[in-house]
Amino acid sequence: MTIDHPSFGRIDDNRVIIFDTTLRDGEQSPGFSMNLDEKLRMAKALEDLGVDVIEAGFPVASPGDFESVRRIAETLKETVVCGLARSGGKRDIEAAGEAIAPARRRRIHSFISTSPLHMKYKLRMEPETVLDLIASGNQAARRYADDVEWSAEDGSRTEPEFLCRCVETAIRNGATTINIPDTVGYATPDEMRAIFNMLRERVPGAEKVIFSAHNHNDLGLAVANTLSSLDGGARQIECTINGIGERAGNAALEEIVMAIRTRQDKFAYTNGIQTPKLLSVSRMLANITSFDVQPNKAIVGRNAFAHESGIHQDGILKNAQTYEIMTPESVGWTKTSLVLGKHSGRAAFRDKLASLGYQLEDAMVQQAFERFKILADQKKTVFDDDIRALVDDETRDHEHIRFVSLELIAGSKRPAQATLELNVDGDVRFATVAGNGPVDAAFRAIQEVFPHEASLALFSVGAVTEGTDAQARTTVRLEEAGKLVDGQGADADTVVSAVRAYVHALNKLLVKRVRTEPAALSA
Ligand code: KIV
Ligand code: ZN
Repeated sequence: MTIDHPSFGRIDDNRVIIFDTTLRDGEQSPGFSMNLDEKLRMAKALEDLGVDVIEAGFPVASPGDFESVRRIAETLKETVVCGLARSGGKRDIEAAGEAIAPARRRRIHSFISTSPLHMKYKLRMEPETVLDLIASGNQAARRYADDVEWSAEDGSRTEPEFLCRCVETAIRNGATTINIPDTVGYATPDEMRAIFNMLRERVPGAEKVIFSAHNHNDLGLAVANTLSSLDGGARQIECTINGIGERAGNAALEEIVMAIRTRQDKFAYTNGIQTPKLLSVSRMLANITSFDVQPNKAIVGRNAFAHESGIHQDGILKNAQTYEIMTPESVGWTKTSLVLGKHSGRAAFRDKLASLGYQLEDAMVQQAFERFKILADQKKTVFDDDIRALVDDETRDHEHIRFVSLELIAGSKRPAQATLELNVDGDVRFATVAGNGPVDAAFRAIQEVFPHEASLALFSVGAVTEGTDAQARTTVRLEEAGKLVDGQGADADTVVSAVRAYVHALNKLLVKRVRTEPAALSA
């Protein structure tokens, strides 16, 4: 069976559409907000990865959200750009329609809750009113795009009879994709498979649309539920990089795609994702949001392909398939991690950046190269992870404040003293401050140079690689008026790394202050 789709034309039955919602469901979870420039970088990387649809944001939520969806719509060339809207929201569809207007390929995604619990307590609406809003919302959306998706929020907890009526109404009024979210991550794989089978059997017109799965991970079942939804006939999956999203997150794109690729005997589907780019996109997101993935995270975690035990190492050396079900290279890990030295030139450095998946403007390459030269003088061997840490640090958002230099006098005999220079909006300022140890002195110096109310909520230090000359990677969490932001820094000097992380967190707070918070996602 094939479907004629407004954005994709004729689609084979085994082709799965990858719908990425990192910039919407992912971005709306606490601590994961991104600025315009960061969203644009992510959107370009997702297009390059081969994602079919990017949900770029919720345009009515704030002027910032509107602007970022619009800029992404202007920028992307191939990927369908989608804007979210409430079916019953007064300005929602109009805002989404205007924001996606510049896109070469565009979609509006409207949603409304359909479960008894949500209709009664959240919407305070009768089921008939919900049906009316589905109809009017989809008709309005069709005025802006031929490609219209409709979602039954809390769909997995909706009464089957009513869910069928909602889906039939959505299709009759122009929906071309029907999404059934497991909004609260409550469903099991069997239940998700059964819901899609039921809808495809019972709803008139079901054969003309694509069914879509959107699973949250509250019970750790998001990926399993997504794969069994495919078995039930869903052919679009909604997912995020690193599985970020509301509460416990969404189904992780990299896990679903690699499950499909690795177990073709079970999941005989195709998709357009270029899997060797998965690691670099995962790292870009971790860098932008300052949230590293856990070391044992499937596919992209630091330990995902590490073999520690002697028995495993022995097996791997004899035949990698003894303990590896996919090759590290197939998801972007490179074999050699020993790289450039202090005699390496700009061309080699640029080559290395490209092989690690970075696409940087010339000025940024130059800045990163200058830091690489300093690092290569300090460190015997510079590994790929060192280069990543350095470039990630250099490309972090430093819109207002930049680290310039730090000098320290420290030891066990007297209080430490830090002399710090920061560039604040183009103005280089410095302070010399004493403290209870070098980190305390350096952080007090930041307060002196740039007075602020935020307090330190977390400070943690790890090493990028091994050895005493390894770079330190630091996380600093600041709190201001109930808002938390995480900043990251890396440097061969632990205290410089801490200062860089603190400055990064301060920059994020400053950006947050001028940004309107997205409105609650309720109809
Ligand atoms: O989880 C959910 O129900 C959603 C909808 C808005 C699609 O994110
Ligand atoms: Zn969701």
